[in-house]
Amino acid sequence: MEVIRYKQITSTNSKAKSLADRNASEWTVVVSDTQTKGKGRAGRTWKSPKGGLWFSVILRPRTNAEQIPILQFLVANGLREAVDRATGVSTKVKWPNDLVVSGKKLAGILIETKIETRQVAYAVIGIGLNVNLIQKQLPKEATSILAQTGRRFDLAETLDLILASLVKHYQKLWDMDMIMKDWWDHCAHRLRQVRIQTKTGIVIGNCIGVNRDGSIVIRTGRRDQTISDGTLLLAG
Ligand code: BTN
Repeated sequence: MEVIRYKQITSTNSKAKSLADRNASEWTVVVSDTQTKGKGRAGRTWKSPKGGLWFSVILRPRTNAEQIPILQFLVANGLREAVDRATGVSTKVKWPNDLVVSGKKLAGILIETKIETRQVAYAVIGIGLNVNLIQKQLPKEATSILAQTGRRFDLAETLDLILASLVKHYQKLWDMDMIMKDWWDHCAHRLRQVRIQTKTGIVIGNCIGVNRDGSIVIRTGRRDQTISDGTLLLAG
């Protein structure tokens, strides 16, 4: 494993992608104290001031494109377990792949892939974890480990623990049932009412499951709806 450290960079994901394009090996990690153009899901920007853990990992899973959602669930599981163990904060996963504490976002995951003839050439796993940020530095629907515990954590040590957990979980990429069960067992909205903003409107109902293809199943009074893309809001 090679960890490449920056004080400032545009985006660790962009850097990791350009390294991967130039054949960087699996488990090359790019981490930066700050990002000037941090990327979030759905084209959003990701504020990345000093005090957070902003990093990207290059993986080269020998799988086809359809298995990317499994990788997303696996990464969320590995991150959740490491954060819980390292900090004592009891976090939950939220669809599609956030980490939350008491409904507030603690971490986000952005996976960018290169697909060649339906095979994954590489996947860049971008993780943004709010570690030592004070509430004023965060959007109001977000939280940090500092805000939750009143303690500051060493960023390099926290990164090492997360990477070790990701290595451990990645060894079981084949065990899809276990990955899906682990995720669902720690899901913040398991059998709870949610609102999902999709491109075509808002769906409100009970979350009754997630599928291996990354979609979520919502029971709305009369029927079950399977949604593959959207933003989930936890109800009250
Ligand atoms: C989300 O929208 O929830 C995903 C946020 C992912 C942010 C991380 S920070 C490190 C990596 N580099 C980026 O530009 N984005 C990801």
